[in-house]
Amino acid sequence: MSTAEKRIWDLPVRITHWGLVISFFGAFFTAELNPMIIHYWFAFIALTLAIFRVIWGLIGSENARFVNFVRGYQPARAYFTELLKFRHKEYWGHNPLGALMVISAISLMILTVVFGLFARNRDLTGPWADSVSPTVEKLLNEGHSFLASVLMTIVVAHIAAILFYRFVLHDNLIKPMVTGMREPQEPHPTPKFAPLWLAAFGLAISIAITGALFRFWLL
Ligand code: HEM
Ligand code: HEM
Repeated sequence: MSTAEKRIWDLPVRITHWGLVISFFGAFFTAELNPMIIHYWFAFIALTLAIFRVIWGLIGSENARFVNFVRGYQPARAYFTELLKFRHKEYWGHNPLGALMVISAISLMILTVVFGLFARNRDLTGPWADSVSPTVEKLLNEGHSFLASVLMTIVVAHIAAILFYRFVLHDNLIKPMVTGMREPQEPHPTPKFAPLWLAAFGLAISIAITGALFRFWLL
């Protein structure tokens, strides 16, 4: 670790991120495999992590909180225009454009899983499939595959953006998401990091909500 490096991402953000990567790709690429129960378990982990990230975005570390990085459309557009000129202002957290990606990825992840809970095929019946009519079930089933593809498109764009930063702008964003440390190019105030017990509390709530949606403790 270089002495000039400063902490940027806390452990909960990093574990959630790499957990989302594994569970999203896991769920996506097991959707046509038998037995589908593998798909179901990846989805359970994905939903738990996505809900946890929402909770952490409300009560977690300063730069993980939505109020501190979601800045709306205009700043995102201005940032994008600068990027097209190969310039980018450094943010000690997410930039305004990345913020839109974070919001879209987390919401789409939650929607995809919720639609999946109503899906059914020969091998797997989602826990809520019996509570809707066959017509609605069919629509939600198609919606499920569609949402998963939209999310995959966003993820591919996300990875392309990370590669653009790495090889065109010479800014390695992957290492900070692994180690939590980054070398600032400009001075930034150090963000406040929330304690790990708060993350454990958030995780317990997200497991409870996911368990209820998967009907583990409703049946
Ligand atoms: C991150 C979460 C998820 C992702 C990325 C995902 C992705 C997908 C995709 C891409 C398909 C379409 C496969 C095809 O082309 O036929 C699919 C189908 C399916 N998924 Fe998911 N899924 C997720 C969560 C869930 C959950 C929570 C359930 C149920 C508990 C579920 C149940 C199903 C079922 C039953 C099908 C088959 C539908 C059919 O045969 O038409 N999925 N999923
Ligand atoms: C191998 C594939 C991936 C790589 C290399 C990657 C890399 C990264 C990096 C470097 C960041 C930090 C960006 C920044 O500094 O602002 C990030 C953030 C993020 N990525 Fe990925 N990503 C991958 C796949 C995914 C997938 C599959 C998802 C979800 C479906 C995802 C969702 C997110 C989210 C939500 C954030 C914001 C982190 C937070 O604040 O919690 N990523 N990703």
